[in-house]
Amino acid sequence: MGIIDRQLPEAGIPRHVAIIMDGNGRWASRHGLPRAAGHREGARAVRRTIEAAIECGIEWMTLFAFSSENWRRPKDEVADLTFLLRHYLRSAIDELCARGVRLRVIGERDRFGPSLRDELASAEIRTSSNTKFNLVMALSYGSRAELVQAARRVAEAVRMQELDSAQLDEAAFAAYLTTTGMPDPDLIIRTSGEKRLSNFLLWQAAYAELVFVETLWPDFDAPHLAAALVEYRQRERRFGVRPVGSADQARDNSGSNPEDQTVGIRR
Ligand code: FPP
Repeated sequence: MGIIDRQLPEAGIPRHVAIIMDGNGRWASRHGLPRAAGHREGARAVRRTIEAAIECGIEWMTLFAFSSENWRRPKDEVADLTFLLRHYLRSAIDELCARGVRLRVIGERDRFGPSLRDELASAEIRTSSNTKFNLVMALSYGSRAELVQAARRVAEAVRMQELDSAQLDEAAFAAYLTTTGMPDPDLIIRTSGEKRLSNFLLWQAAYAELVFVETLWPDFDAPHLAAALVEYRQRERRFGVRPVGSADQARDNSGSNPEDQTVGIRR
């Protein structure tokens, strides 16, 4: 029995966990190593974390592997990150298939150039019939850009009379995002002690639980994931609705119209 099974013996596993992997650079400087070594070690943590997530029954995992802002880093570092990504795709693809992992990429993949773009596409095609676990790589991803692109596509659909703007609701809008068809994240973890979303899944994170951990990403391992899942399970998710049986609810509901009563939704 793994550490995750021991700590999480029963239900309460989030369906979709998204991770802002932060702290590779600090890890490297603490070890007196170049930043590239931190990213390399970060890639190892990616492999461990996917394995641990599969082991504990998570169905979806989105990893923020390269942000739109990362293009502004020195050329060498961008090259190191894209090299690692390519290396990961090539070296992990067989294992991903063996484990039933389906890969999906969100973000402006065209910015990586035709060769990496094609490798990403072929990895997506090769894993497309896998159903055990969904791995989503956010690459050259920024949430504001995604929202602007969705707004443009909505405007175009209205212009082409394919969409009546009066019919546009949240679900219809979400279909124009790159995450269409994916469940929203239940839990977002950020490593390295920073407490920001940094333009990651802003729409999709509306009801996500946020867990910030001090661990630097290259040190992240199954026990850290297990601890985040324990914290998640201790949170009460109300989606803006008060829980059944709360004192406020008892007061509000006494003698009132049943239609006005607080609904006991929990997830
Ligand atoms: C932040 O560290 C992390 C990134 C820039 C992206 C994450 C990249 C990896 C985990 C490596 C490769 C990924 C794959 C999928 C193979 P940082 O450099 O911002 O750290 P710092 O804040 O300490 O400087």
